[in-house]
Amino acid sequence: MHRITVMKVFNTIAALQNELALLKRTSFNVGFVPTMGALHEGHLSLLKSSKEKDHCTVVSIFVNPTQFNDKNDFEKYPRNVDKDLEILESAGCNIVFVPNEKEIYPEPDTRVFDFGGLDQVMEGQCRPGHFNGVAQVVTRLFKIVKPCRAYFGYKDFQQLAIIRFIVKKYNIPVEIVACPIVRESTGLAMSSRNTRLCESDRAKASKISKVLFYLKDRYNSFHSVKEMQAYVAGELTLNDGFDLEYFEVVDEETLLPPDSLQQPVSKVGCIAVWIGGVRLIDNVNFLS
Ligand code: PAJ
Repeated sequence: MHRITVMKVFNTIAALQNELALLKRTSFNVGFVPTMGALHEGHLSLLKSSKEKDHCTVVSIFVNPTQFNDKNDFEKYPRNVDKDLEILESAGCNIVFVPNEKEIYPEPDTRVFDFGGLDQVMEGQCRPGHFNGVAQVVTRLFKIVKPCRAYFGYKDFQQLAIIRFIVKKYNIPVEIVACPIVRESTGLAMSSRNTRLCESDRAKASKISKVLFYLKDRYNSFHSVKEMQAYVAGELTLNDGFDLEYFEVVDEETLLPPDSLQQPVSKVGCIAVWIGGVRLIDNVNFLS
């Protein structure tokens, strides 16, 4: 599907839009993959999906300060743009947008988004302001790139639900494409943060997905969410180096807890766990 092959890198909105305007003159469909860099196979799976559907793909690399409620986490976030560019070039990416902070936020963004309550649970509760920052940057990037499709991973399941919600609520003309979680061979969900784990913690961290898949396999033998939570807490203990922040079961769209596990609606088990000073999230859809 892709027609242009040489990868171009832009740091400014003006230069990027100049290029996109030329491409769009010949009715190009632009796909968009927003990222914070430190790229891995998970990110590349989004690029691959776009390459199958769109004439050209823009990947952005921007560690967005407004979505970090913890300054330390922002500073420690892995950054390696040169390596990212090499990875993107070999993966056949067409256009990379690598803006600096002033380019995205010439003035502080004071917008406060309404997420219809989707931000009141899990990540939203544990990381106050996080989703507002995500919405600030994603809506700005959508306005800059004006893609016909944008690709997001199920890895950040609540983020995906929130992006879908704001696109609908604010009538943003973009199709959101959701992509499955890419895992390492051990089952650990790929994440830029995994690079901050020491080798032994990385090996241990594979237990997180094992616990989730155990719950999925034995779904019918659990009678309540509480019973599941007790199982998870018993498996991921402080003694073994885990600090469980939450395990919740929620409806895929509303993110509300189900009245019972037997309800025939799509339910997703979501987890956040600290290990070796690194916060990891993962999830599994019990009914798909
Ligand atoms: P980042 O964590 O870099 O992730 C960029 C995209 O890659 C997100 O849509 C995320 O869900 C997806 N992704 C990450 N790991 C994945 C995996 N193992 N499998 C499949 N997809 C995966 O999410 C963000 O950046 C930011 O919040 C952003 C949307 C860019 C706004 O700043």
